[in-house]
Amino acid sequence: MKISEQYNLIHDNTLQVDCECNHYAAINSLSDLEALPRDIKITEMLVLGAGSNFLFTGPLPRFVAHIKPRKYITQVDNLVVAWAGTVWHDLVMWSVNRGYGGIENLALIPGLVGAAPFQNIGAYGVEIKDILVWVEVYNWQTGHYHRLSNEECMFTYRHSVFKYHDQPWIISRVALDLRPDAEPNISYQPLADHFAQTGEAVNFANIANAVIKIRQSKLPDPEILPNAGSFFKNPVLTDQQIRKIQRRHKDLPLFPIDEKGHYKTSAAWLLEQCGFKGFREGDAGFYEHHALVLVNHGQATGKELQKLANLAKRTVKNKFGVILEEEVRVL
Ligand code: EPU
Repeated sequence: MKISEQYNLIHDNTLQVDCECNHYAAINSLSDLEALPRDIKITEMLVLGAGSNFLFTGPLPRFVAHIKPRKYITQVDNLVVAWAGTVWHDLVMWSVNRGYGGIENLALIPGLVGAAPFQNIGAYGVEIKDILVWVEVYNWQTGHYHRLSNEECMFTYRHSVFKYHDQPWIISRVALDLRPDAEPNISYQPLADHFAQTGEAVNFANIANAVIKIRQSKLPDPEILPNAGSFFKNPVLTDQQIRKIQRRHKDLPLFPIDEKGHYKTSAAWLLEQCGFKGFREGDAGFYEHHALVLVNHGQATGKELQKLANLAKRTVKNKFGVILEEEVRVL
């Protein structure tokens, strides 16, 4: 395994910002993982996959272990086990093509399998936590592998134990419970509308195709317009915040998140109300068809994108009293 110094990650992050890291190693296999130097500190290591959830804002004084895309999927004891470098969407199509259900709602989410549990990817009514059985991690300091159960992963909305950065772990494999008799989920309104309008049979392949269509109509393709998906998380509001905002905005979108009367709102809606949909400052902007997506129209630097994101946060805070939190990792 070759270790490069002062390596530029411009082609390795989907916002396509220029960023040099101190050390870089491409990881293609378990043996590459095992060849990583043992003395890298936890704070020094950065595990990078497709780079679809990062905003780099300057030089990166880190050792970047870059998991390269490589499809490797096996079936063990009725579970589907995928190598971290498998492209997530390839795993979805592999599953759908075999008639297995469970992840069809997560079609076309960018990134690799190893990144999926890290932020508990979710879309259209499903999160990976719903079908994940275990995650295998490699401890680069000891050279040992370790398995975490679904519970040990401590999944919540776009969060997991892997985000705490207090363990020398790299996700190596993920096991999912995908079944031919899984219950299709079309609870998310745009999906339910799709099936009501088209009259298509509700099966795994049709759900995956519908999700692909909906995503393609709403979200920009990073190959054409560099972006990192939703830039902020959808914020949970207190009762007081809801009452205050509804005094002026009766149309505030609210999505129940539990049975205790807690609600999330749409960060995209908040941003749109503040005029950020399609707003642009130089080459940094928010997508014209979806306000939650920060885009790089060409030569924007990480700092410029961060400046625009911070302006959006301040504006939303001043207008609505709501603090937006980044979903994307800003480094
Ligand atoms: N909306 C606006 N303006 C916009 C876009 C949306 O007001 O420009 C409002 C609409 O009222 C719409 C609501 O926002 O009904 C929700 O929009 P959408 O269905 O596009 O979902 P989202 O809340 O913006 C979340 C996830 C997405 C996921 C979709 C579908 C987060 C941060 N984002 O987006 O995930 O694909 O739901 O489930 O939870 C990602 O994480 O990168 C991502 C794309």
